[in-house]
Formats: sequence, C-alpha cells, structure tokens
Amino acid sequence: MGQSESIFTDKNPMQLCDATVESHREICRKLNIFDSYEEELTKGGAKGGEGAPESCKHLLTRFLNSAARTQLAIFPLDGDLPEINEELIAQLSAKNLYIIDIASGHGAGTLSIINSIHHLRIKEESFPTDPLDIDIHALDFSETSLSYYENLIEILRSDYLKVGITIKFHRHIVDLRSDENIKTAVENIKTSIGKNPQYLLTCSAISGVKRTVFQESFARSYSYIVTEFREENSLFFWVEPQTKGDWIKESWQELATEQKIEYPSDGCKTKNIRFHWSDPHTKSVLHADAEYLLMGLAT
Ligand SMILES: C[S@@+](CC[C@H](N)C(=O)[O-])C[C@H]1O[C@@H](n2cnc3c(N)ncnc32)[C@H](O)[C@@H]1O
Repeated sequence: MGQSESIFTDKNPMQLCDATVESHREICRKLNIFDSYEEELTKGGAKGGEGAPESCKHLLTRFLNSAARTQLAIFPLDGDLPEINEELIAQLSAKNLYIIDIASGHGAGTLSIINSIHHLRIKEESFPTDPLDIDIHALDFSETSLSYYENLIEILRSDYLKVGITIKFHRHIVDLRSDENIKTAVENIKTSIGKNPQYLLTCSAISGVKRTVFQESFARSYSYIVTEFREENSLFFWVEPQTKGDWIKESWQELATEQKIEYPSDGCKTKNIRFHWSDPHTKSVLHADAEYLLMGLAT
C-alpha cells in the first residue's frame, strides 16, 4: 500500500475538534496531570497497559495523537479519505448505533469519531441532525482506562445532547488473549443489544503490542469478534499509526483467510497517509503517519 501525502502540511496543519481538545484538557486537569504535559511528551514511550500509571501516562501523552489520526478519516468533509469518510458518516446517521470498541483504552479513537460528528452537526448547516443514540461497548483489560473513558463521556455528554447525540456507555473488562473472556463479553453484548443491531466495530492504536504478539495472542479474538458481529449495515474501522509493512492489511488478510471471509472483494478499503496536525496544548506542529482499514460486515 503506497503512502499518500495529506492536504494537511506543516504550513497548513489539521486542527483538532474543540470537543476533543477541551475534554482532554478537562480530564487531565481533574487528574492533576495537565501541567506535566510537555515534560511527559519529551519522555515518550507510553503504550497504555493494564496498570493505572501506564493508563494515566497514555491518556496524557497519546490521547491527542490517536484522536488526530481518527479525525483525519472523517473531518473535514473535503479531506483526505473521501470513501472512508462517506461510509462512516452514513453509519453515524443511523438512529441507533452500537459501537464495539476493541482495546478501547480511554476511547481516544472512538470519541474522536463522535467529536467530529458533533463538530459537523454544529458547523455544517446541511449536515443531518436527527437524534442519534449510541451505545458504546468498550473492551479493555485496564479498569483505569475504562474509567477515564467513562469520565470523558460525562464531560462531553451535555455538549453531545445539544446536537441530538445520546450516549450509553458499557464497560467490559476483558483480556483479549483469553478466549473465555471474549466469549463471555460477546454473549453479554449480544444479549443486551437484542434484535436488528447496526454495529460499528472500532479499533485504534493496538499495534504498540507488536505484530508477533498480535498474531500469537490477539488475532484469534479479533477474528472471533469480527465474525460474531457480522450484520447488515455494519462496519469494522481500524486505525493505526504507521507500522512496518502493511500491518493492518496483512493482519486482516490472515484473519479473513482463517474465517473464510472473501478478501479483498469484501468492500475493504485501506489507506496509508502522512499528515501534519497542530498540538493545541503546546501549539507545535507535528507530523504523523496513519494506516486505515474500513470493511463492510454484511454476511
Ligand atoms: C495504545 S492503547 C489504544 C487505546 C485506544 N484505542 C486509542 O484509540 O488510543 C492500547 C490499548 O490496548 C489495551 N490492551 C493491551 N493488551 C490488552 C489485552 N491483552 N487485553 C485487553 N486490552 C489490552 C491497553 O490496555 C490499551 O488501552
């Protein structure tokens, strides 16, 4: 997959949506960590993890990167990924949507999707503003990250309501390496949702676990989750920072083969892009690479 250059250059970097910036600032202030933002950024190395210190550092230093990568896929409307953008926006025009956020962490990727829709509902006059009820089912083994996710939603809730977006949050503490954990979580989710679901499966920034670890420990659960949630009008959206080789595409090909899913004539879109974005807290311009995969999940 060749890499393309974004319309967002170092001279014209992407600006993050207000809801993303302000909710990140607010939660970090509440946790008394905001003042160490610049200092922690220089240390690097946060991947997220099961423990509270890792989750906290990840929230502080990596939230905006994840949000930036995901926002590029949706907003602005005339941006870099028109096909992906169109399908995601159509999906987010449903009345009821069930988001299954896999290795959700604090939800930077998924909340960035909703924050982009929130932005479009305010700024684009012709953008549909019918009521949108979203149930988020977040799967992660970090209880701390899931509680940050819930806190962020509480911070954003009243702004979302003003534009007709209602969110219900369901946390699932699961280890993606455990077949038993995943099976139980999927069963619980399906029971709580009931009939005629429309799913958006999201996955963002999992590649920090390394490819070999993904293949050995996660591939089976991803394959299971994607198979169990294959429904009409449903999508699987996966975003990663740039990885060695075509990480997402090849991992998906392996999963698809295992599950006997037709590939790539399965409505699968991939894109690899380099872009620039402005860090709203430090005002510095950063470059980033992102890989995307969007796949229809109809059976
Ligand atoms: C880099 S973070 C990505 C978080 C989020 N999706 C985002 O957009 O930024 C990776 C997440 O994977 C979770 N994770 C790693 N190994 C896991 C496992 N074995 N089971 C469940 N979650 C895991 C971590 O707790 C962390 O929240």
